[in-house]
Amino acid sequence: MNEPIFLSETTSTNDYLFSIGEKEPFFAVVAERQTRGKGSKGRTFLSPVGGLYLSVVAPKDEALFPILTPLAAVAVKRAVWDSFGIDLGIKWVNDLMIDRGNGYKKVCGILTETRTAEKVVTVIGIGVNVFRAQEGYEGLETIVGYLSEEKPDKMILQSLAKKIVEELKKVFSAPDEGMQEYARSSILEGKTVRYQNPRTKGDYFVRGIDERGRLILETDGETIVVDDGEVTAWQKS
Ligand code: BTN
Repeated sequence: MNEPIFLSETTSTNDYLFSIGEKEPFFAVVAERQTRGKGSKGRTFLSPVGGLYLSVVAPKDEALFPILTPLAAVAVKRAVWDSFGIDLGIKWVNDLMIDRGNGYKKVCGILTETRTAEKVVTVIGIGVNVFRAQEGYEGLETIVGYLSEEKPDKMILQSLAKKIVEELKKVFSAPDEGMQEYARSSILEGKTVRYQNPRTKGDYFVRGIDERGRLILETDGETIVVDDGEVTAWQKS
């Protein structure tokens, strides 16, 4: 397998992959730092040294397309378990969370983007707070977590990136199993959450996640199944 290309800095690894044109599935790039990291919903993704910023060309398989992000979350969960022995929970839809006994904190976010120029290219972007960042997260300690107390180490980033790409290949070849693991890993199940999308906003009970990665919510005896929007707050215990 080709190793991910390693850059010390780029604007956004997703944009880097789009800029270099057509590449084969699983072609991957890693940066030690991004100057314009992108989060979901048009947000900025802080990307200081200490994190792994990885983008991977997605396979061209239409059946996988709606579940690329949840399957990528499972791949990251497996890779982190294998490399660090840490069992991450998944917060629907694209966040991986660590709990060291003082509440869940975000350690990874995933942004899947598609661009159509001459060809359709889909890129899966994964940002993991591997080491405690030296700068950038002041005041965010209660919501941002990290995997290791050690000093940032390029070899560890390279090896985690390689492992994630291997796990992406595995999970995309057994997606049903991957989606079951995604649902089992949800930290929201059985909790009350604040949910909003362009059509609705309110407090809901989370019944679970279906086989397509959609959130099943209940309120006043009514069930809704959603694949957009976001959970902004949730019952922590
Ligand atoms: C989110 O949490 O909202 C998604 C964050 C996705 C961040 C990753 S880092 C690698 C890739 N490049 C980017 O600019 N964004 C994604």
